[in-house]
Amino acid sequence: MSNSDNRSGFTSKLGVILATVGTAVGLGNIWRFPFVAGENGGGAFLLIYFFCLILLGLPVVMAEFTVGRRAQANAVDAYKKFTKNPIMSRIGYLGVFAGLIIMGYYSVVMGWTLEYLYQAIVGGLTGHSPEAYGTMFSELSGGIYYPILLTIGVTLLTWLIISRGVQTGIEKVSRVLMPMLFIILIGLAIYSMTLDGAAEGLKFLFYPDFNDVTPQTFLDAMGQCFFSLSLGMGCLTTYASYFKKDVNLPKTAVQVISIDTLVAIVSGVIIFPAVFSFGVEPSQGPGLVYVVLPNIFQKMIGGRIIGILFYALLFIAALTSLMSLLEVVTAYVHEKFKLSRTVSSLIIALIVIIMSIFASLSCGAVPELQLFGKSIFDLFDYFTAVILLPIGGLTISIYGGWVLEEKILYTEFARNNKYSLALFKAYAFILKYIAPICILIVFIGSFI
Ligand code: TRP
Repeated sequence: MSNSDNRSGFTSKLGVILATVGTAVGLGNIWRFPFVAGENGGGAFLLIYFFCLILLGLPVVMAEFTVGRRAQANAVDAYKKFTKNPIMSRIGYLGVFAGLIIMGYYSVVMGWTLEYLYQAIVGGLTGHSPEAYGTMFSELSGGIYYPILLTIGVTLLTWLIISRGVQTGIEKVSRVLMPMLFIILIGLAIYSMTLDGAAEGLKFLFYPDFNDVTPQTFLDAMGQCFFSLSLGMGCLTTYASYFKKDVNLPKTAVQVISIDTLVAIVSGVIIFPAVFSFGVEPSQGPGLVYVVLPNIFQKMIGGRIIGILFYALLFIAALTSLMSLLEVVTAYVHEKFKLSRTVSSLIIALIVIIMSIFASLSCGAVPELQLFGKSIFDLFDYFTAVILLPIGGLTISIYGGWVLEEKILYTEFARNNKYSLALFKAYAFILKYIAPICILIVFIGSFI
């Protein structure tokens, strides 16, 4: 998907949706959303998350789409096109930097997913107690060589795909696999709701109990919103640069956000009833899905097959997301340093591998790998999702609202649709004032 060879990129409307959903739906929805919601008290978090989606997610997605389609360039160059302002013209660099760090731990989680897929295939996920699944996860993530090997494997696999640019292949594959993932998720959610203790889990997820809400909850909800939508680092800008002129941007934005959110909620409906039913701690952090789900699979009829399918599809969802991250950085390095796509993506993959070795070791094997009281793994996650992406979102909303001519904002908004001027005015107003102010308030509030 470099500038030169594939600028016409996504041909069909479905291709546009699938590719964009492909980057958005990933570990963020199925692995990250449940554990962040679990750490933040469930229902109240969900409510705040919805506000973030509407007030921040939607307008910033639109702003990234607008800049990307208009500029037809990679994330760094796109933001240089419409202004000479020394700060505003450079916001793409922030994205490339954030992308590198996200890859440094995303690949670690993907490595774990690969191992769980393998265990599901060889039958290792049956016949254990809930505690044993807990131990199994901590032994895997706390290992030395094995998780690193897995991480290197998935990073090289992603590199192989990106360097070859099999975008059409992936588009075709996603066309079948994304709906399949969704069907499996719905099936699992229905099953999960039949477990004893399901009511308690659903109450935890949907009943807003504001006693647990702190300024940190808002920060976490905002971070999750940006992370899950692949927002705030030029990823959607890059993708939108492959959109055709007739793609209806607001409609696409609403569709992608709806699908992404639905997948996250369905994941919550799978996880939380099971959490309460099997007596697992909802706030236990990153191991949540890996510890909880095997309990469900081993109880279900046909659970072994469903387990295999689930981890395979989760792996693919993660792969399409990791590809998008690698693509953003590759497109930039490839064009800036005039290196071939293969070489540029290999250099980045090697940097990612080095970072992920530290992230992986910090999960237990070398507990000293800490900074500011967080493991390197948690720090990569926190620093990007909660700090860099919202800062990216802030600058992108300012860019869309104040730097970009309103005429451009309107033309891209109104292409191929009949929305009223009033709706556009509301969107421009949110982009100009509400979104930046909300992000700033959440930031300042949580640091006080
Ligand atoms: N959104 C993806 C997920 O939910 C992760 C991801 C892909 C991402 N590209 C991104 C996150 C860009 C932030 C920015 O798993």
